[in-house]
Amino acid sequence: NQQTDCRHFLTLLDLSRDEARALIARATELKQQRAAGQDVKPLAGRTLAMIFEKSSTRTRVSFEAGMTQLGGHALFLSPRDTQLGRGEPIEDSARVISRMVDAVMIRTFEQATVEVFAAHSRVPVINGLTDRCHPCQMLADLQTFHEHRGDIQGKRVVWIGDGNNMCHSFMEAAQLFDFELRVACPEGFEPDADLLDACGGRCSLLRDPREAAEGAHLIATDVWASMGQEEEQERRKAAFASYQVTDAIMDQASADAIFMHCLPAHRGEEVAASVIDGPRSVVWDEAENRLHAQKALLEFLIAH
Ligand code: CP
Ligand code: NVA
Repeated sequence: NQQTDCRHFLTLLDLSRDEARALIARATELKQQRAAGQDVKPLAGRTLAMIFEKSSTRTRVSFEAGMTQLGGHALFLSPRDTQLGRGEPIEDSARVISRMVDAVMIRTFEQATVEVFAAHSRVPVINGLTDRCHPCQMLADLQTFHEHRGDIQGKRVVWIGDGNNMCHSFMEAAQLFDFELRVACPEGFEPDADLLDACGGRCSLLRDPREAAEGAHLIATDVWASMGQEEEQERRKAAFASYQVTDAIMDQASADAIFMHCLPAHRGEEVAASVIDGPRSVVWDEAENRLHAQKALLEFLIAH
């Protein structure tokens, strides 16, 4: 069973710096074209299969609407009503599905699942979130920073909270775009040590969120208990109690600092309502940019 040498997007680092920059610029261009009523349809007749082993609002809606806007079609597949949920091997599913569609997006638990799928796929595979990383969200976040504040290179980005999938994607972005990343997390909730090493001097680990926030150009956070960690919720609430992004923390940052959260958010837990609903928050632009960034990604992977 011959695989082609197609490109996949399993982590942000599957793109070169120049490709990522071009993709983000294209995302903003597609956004402007859409606002002007000039939709382009380079994916006419093409199909994206979307496999969701976890819940989603933004990822599903943005990929499905994005495919429609590009002239193609998206197919929602859940383990509940496909053979994936009844134990058909991921390798076999990849061989079969990839003979029928033009790209596959997968949201699942282990990074190994998207890697195995990609290894047996004839078409590009996109990581729509794993426990390891969330590269599609990162594209939208980078686009959003660029639209609000320009080049992120050399800026100070502060991640407050869990060293989770989103934190890992910020660490990959720091490598690709060469910005300083400070991660403030409680003991026992650090990001992956190898990834930290790979960041070199760009990423530092701190305990005190107020200290970490000093001089930040961007402060970002995420839920304390990710999907799959539901039983840990109470333990995590206690461990992260002093890691809420409050106005006091935002006030430590640079005067023009912005706040990001990939959503869904829990006001009064990882972020104060006054921050996420306040003037420094760009979370709705960030959510909208999922659509534009992924349209640019789909065009890059399928049409080129
Ligand atoms: N941010 C994000 O990926 O949202 P969903 O879980 O709603 O897709
Ligand atoms: N860290 C969160 C992100 C949700 C978009 C999770 O994995 O559940």
